[in-house]
Amino acid sequence: KQQECSSGNVVLIGFMGTGKSSVGRRLAARLGFRYLDTDQEIERVTGMSIVEIFTHHGEARFRAEEHEMAKTLGALRGQVVATGGGIVLNPDNLTVLREQGLIIALTARPDVVWQRVAHRTHRPLINQSITVEEIAAMMERRMPYYQSADVTIDTSDKTVREIVDQLVDYL
Ligand code: S3P
Repeated sequence: KQQECSSGNVVLIGFMGTGKSSVGRRLAARLGFRYLDTDQEIERVTGMSIVEIFTHHGEARFRAEEHEMAKTLGALRGQVVATGGGIVLNPDNLTVLREQGLIIALTARPDVVWQRVAHRTHRPLINQSITVEEIAAMMERRMPYYQSADVTIDTSDKTVREIVDQLVDYL
């Protein structure tokens, strides 16, 4: 693991609101790795926000950009990569990311995810009136994709610091 991690990337996957960005930033600082966020990179490359891409060009265009990004990041080394929650929907993305890295899945209970995402406006797939049940259903459909990770951490009742400590121990 140490070997895999020091020669490659640490890739965080998981549903929206499971803490990928917060954990990713802190973990990168601890490991002395660069931190990269696939959504941020897509926004930088396209010059559009994620909401703008979905609104003006559709989800398919976003998924195409996401796939290009996965290929680019898969070729890098020494990065902590936080991915968008839907990156696993294209199995090729996981394949390329896995080639150079260790895949860590973050999970959280639907009620916790709801609390973290429902009132925020930057996610096109989350509307303001979304219910815990709707989140649970969406999460359920995606769960099989997240389960192929090398390690899984439930972030529901942990602080970012506790999660990062646990990951550093694991690595
Ligand atoms: C998405 C998750 C988002 C972002 C886009 C689509 C998804 O990333 O990529 O809104 O399909 O789950 P986060 O998981 O960082 O919220």
